[in-house]
Amino acid sequence: MSIVTCIAPVNIAVIKYWGKRDENLILPVNDSISATLDTEHLCARTTIMASPEFKEDRIWLNGKEQSINNKRLQNCLIGMRKRAQISNDMECWKIHICSENNFPTAAGLASSAAGYACLVAALAKLYKVEGDISAVARSGSGSACRSMMGGFVRWHMGSDPKGSDSLAKQIVSPSHWPEMRVLVLVVNDGRKKVSSALGMKRSIETSELLKYRAEHVVPRRANEMNEAILQKNFEKFAELTIKDSNQMHAVCQDTYPPCHYMNDVSFTLVNLAHSYNSAANEIKVAYTCDAGPNVTVYILEKNVAEFISILDFYIPPADDLTVEYRKGIPIQLISP
Ligand code: PMV
Repeated sequence: MSIVTCIAPVNIAVIKYWGKRDENLILPVNDSISATLDTEHLCARTTIMASPEFKEDRIWLNGKEQSINNKRLQNCLIGMRKRAQISNDMECWKIHICSENNFPTAAGLASSAAGYACLVAALAKLYKVEGDISAVARSGSGSACRSMMGGFVRWHMGSDPKGSDSLAKQIVSPSHWPEMRVLVLVVNDGRKKVSSALGMKRSIETSELLKYRAEHVVPRRANEMNEAILQKNFEKFAELTIKDSNQMHAVCQDTYPPCHYMNDVSFTLVNLAHSYNSAANEIKVAYTCDAGPNVTVYILEKNVAEFISILDFYIPPADDLTVEYRKGIPIQLISP
C-alpha cells in the first residue's frame, strides 16, 4: 500500500482564458495570466492510495463517489501513468482518490482548477514523476495548469497543434509583490449556470468578438500585463484586469444564445469599485469575474481595510445580497 496527500490552491485569472482552439487537447485561443492564491483559504486536498488489493480505480469528491470514467479525469490518470517512474508492479496497482475542497464547490470558485492541479500533483508524488506536468493538469481543466505554480503565472497558448508548447510558466514568485491582496466576494446566486466548457464552446462557434479578442487584443494585453506585474505597477495592472474581465463577459453576451454569468449583485459591486476609484482619483481596486457571479478583487494591502468598510457600508448583508467571504488573501506559493 502506498499513500500520498497534496494540497493545491485556486488561481484567479487577470487575463482570461475563454475559448479553445482544440477541444480534445484543451488548447486555448489566447495566452492567459493568473495569480495563484494561498493554500489556507481556497484549496483542494487530495489523498491517493494505491494497493495491490484494490480491484478498480475509484474516486470520491467531497465524500461522494463519482464516476472514474470522466474523460478529463482519465486524461490525467493516463497522462501521469505514462510518465510514471516506478516499478511495473506498482504501475498495475489500482488507486483510490479522495479529494475535498475547503470551500463550497458550488460557489463557482475555480474549484476545477484547484482539483485537477491537486490530482496531478498527488499522482506525480505517487508515481515519482519529475519535470513539467502542467500539460497533464491542462488536460483535466485548462486553467488547472496555472495552479501548478505559485505567484503570477502565464499559460502560453503555444503554436504546436499537438500542444507540446501550451504550458504554464511562472512570471514571478509570490514574494515579488508582497503588498498584493485578493478579496473573494462570494455572491449568492440560485441560477444554474452554463459550465465554462459549454460556454466556451458556444462562444467559439458563434462569437465574432472572441475572434477579434484572441487575435488583436489579448496578445498585446498579455504582454502589457506581464510588464505591469514585473514593474509592480498597480494602476496599469488594475486597469488591464478590469478591461479583460469585462471583455470576457462581453464575449459571453456576444455568444448565441448568450451566457450570463454576472448578476445584479456582481454589477453593484463593479459599480462600487468604479465609484471608489473615481472618488480617489486613482485606481485602487481591480475586479474580475469568472464563469459565475462572484467578484474577485485585487487590491494593495494598505487599502484593504478602507475598501472593506466601504463594502460594509454600501452592501450590508441581506438575503438576496450577501457577500460571504471577504478575506485578504496574501498570494503564496503552493506547497504540494
Ligand atoms: O479551466 P476551465 O475550463 O474551468 O475554464 C476557466 C475559465 C475562466 O475561469 C472563466 C477564466 C480563467 O482564465 O480562469
